[in-house]
Amino acid sequence: MKLKKWTVLFLFNLTLISCSSEKVLKIESPDNKIKVSVNTSQGIYYTVNFKDSVIINPSKLGYEFKNANPLSKNFIVTDYSITQSNTKWTTVWGEKSVIEDNYNQLLICLQEKDGFKRKLNLYFKIYNDGIGFRYEIPKQKNIDSLLITQELTEFNFVKNHSGWYIPANFESYETLYKNASLNEIESANTPITLETEAGNFISIHEANLTNYAGMTLKKNEAASFSFKSDLVPWPNGVKVKAKTPMVSPWRTIQITDNAKDLVESNLILNLNEPNKIENVSWIEPMKYIGIWWGMHLGTQTWTLGERHGATTEETKKYIDFADKHKIKGVLVEGWNTGWENWGKKDAFDFVTPYDDFNLKEVTNYATEKNISFIGHVETGGAAQSFENKLDPIFSMYQQLGVKAVKTGYAGGIQTKGQFHHGQFMVNHYREVVKTAAKYKIMIDAHEPIKPTGIRRTYPNMMTREGTRGMEWNAWSSGNPPEHYTILPFTRGLAGPIDYTPGVFDILYKNAKNRVKWNDLDDGTSRVNTTLAKQLALFVVLYSPMQMASDLIENYENQPAFKFIEDVATDWEFSKMINGKIGDYITIVRKDKNSDDWFLGSITDESQRELNIELSFLEENKTYIAQIYADGTNADWETNPTEIDILKKEVTSKTNLNIKLAAGGGQAIRFTPINK
Ligand code: NOJ
Ligand code: CA
Repeated sequence: MKLKKWTVLFLFNLTLISCSSEKVLKIESPDNKIKVSVNTSQGIYYTVNFKDSVIINPSKLGYEFKNANPLSKNFIVTDYSITQSNTKWTTVWGEKSVIEDNYNQLLICLQEKDGFKRKLNLYFKIYNDGIGFRYEIPKQKNIDSLLITQELTEFNFVKNHSGWYIPANFESYETLYKNASLNEIESANTPITLETEAGNFISIHEANLTNYAGMTLKKNEAASFSFKSDLVPWPNGVKVKAKTPMVSPWRTIQITDNAKDLVESNLILNLNEPNKIENVSWIEPMKYIGIWWGMHLGTQTWTLGERHGATTEETKKYIDFADKHKIKGVLVEGWNTGWENWGKKDAFDFVTPYDDFNLKEVTNYATEKNISFIGHVETGGAAQSFENKLDPIFSMYQQLGVKAVKTGYAGGIQTKGQFHHGQFMVNHYREVVKTAAKYKIMIDAHEPIKPTGIRRTYPNMMTREGTRGMEWNAWSSGNPPEHYTILPFTRGLAGPIDYTPGVFDILYKNAKNRVKWNDLDDGTSRVNTTLAKQLALFVVLYSPMQMASDLIENYENQPAFKFIEDVATDWEFSKMINGKIGDYITIVRKDKNSDDWFLGSITDESQRELNIELSFLEENKTYIAQIYADGTNADWETNPTEIDILKKEVTSKTNLNIKLAAGGGQAIRFTPINK
């Protein structure tokens, strides 16, 4: 992939006014819809207006420390500046190939009036789709190292909006979303998405989470509809250890007129630093299959034994299948020793193959066929042991021609008192991405830190879990039909999701002799969608590495698999056509490497008919629409696999009527024909 040169439109206009008497500073978005004012007369408070109404009441900013007094009041403004910037940048891969970065920035330089006269800077960037703000504690005489015990950031909403969220959790994002009024929400992980009575959308998250603890939200009892930041702690309760100069991640508040603008927002990526990897030719979005689902179903094992999944022979079958079916990658889990020690300290050495798995033979076989073998490093929470061996592990993979590695952190973090989402692990995850880049290796992280847009800076950070993914359907009550209609409006706003869709044997009819291995498995597990919806998820849930997760046996001679063969993973353009959080959504994307468009439409447990104008297609062209629709009697509960596959000629003037079964979906590929 080459980085295209893009004409840069640069508008720069700097006003620097020295002004110690200013107490209220104001800034607005380029389209004037969002206005922020910052008042520093008594503490630091920011207020946000949207379309001339207040949507965030004065909300506190500041810090508390273990080794120093709070940095939160008694300031003078020593300087401030307002700048504008309007540029465009090109992604290495993504939902879009070109992104507009258009904002106004307010920088406020504060200094305490008395005492040590400590300095604190605040940056506010106001975009048409929301705001980002961050703290900077500059290098200064009296502060060298900092032990942050509390970030005082608040989000005080004016009304009791409806919120879509998962409860705050320092270890996991793998819970089902809930919908509740703000005053009923005790805590939340971010992103949390709010819908206002007027139908506007607000989502709180963070961008560029670097050398800092992950932020969760906690009910702020001091106000009615309010959250305060609750950072994930170190074992001793300190939240962030820092040295000056220090910058915090951006606290982000996406604010949009409607759901479509929220889903299409680029705020998180825009608040991250540009790509730092010079040569990106080795970074390649792909579809992959793998030795994986059998273990979750309990028909195969990670451990050595009769049912061992990752044998040389079985892996070669997967490589052959990938080669035949336009799939680039093959993931293999359970190839290396240690699974028999699950739950013990340092169970894995990460590099020793089981006796029935010849790593060299398999990787050579993959290379010959131009298939990417995807390595697997499950740490079982032994992050530190993995970190100690990053260079030898990635170097081994590089020598074997491996270009992508999936990582995992199942179970508690083995470094005592550490959480998955604290600063210790945030730094660990970053170290993995950076070291992998040195060896030209792409990363797919499971049990990760949530995405905050780092993929812009390190585009080898391809995709990650950090959500309740497909595996839950193998051994628990699973994910209900509406789960998928919530993800694009919540977790999906943060970045790519390695959900791993594509299970065709929805009722596990072909899965003989399943052995229960997970306590959550009560024997009634299944996938709670129709088959057509499984296909639609390849478009709806964006990921540059998209897994077709079923066993290859279940794809043989299945006409529906053609959609998975054809669907792209890297996009020139993406659009939300319609949707309502928790009910349904339709997304269309234009392939970056051809003239094809793809559509994915899904519904919750209710059946639905949607009318879709194909005006996104190029004018004056005729397309063949290859349609994968729920069959007439399809229903996720009673008849999940009935599918109708048909072709139709369409143009940008066509109105398509789409019928989605209960728990169903539809997937379409549009290919232009020369007429
Ligand atoms: C959890 C991951 O999400 C899953 O994909 C993987 O198979 C298991 N851990 C084992 O590593
Ligand atoms: Ca619903």
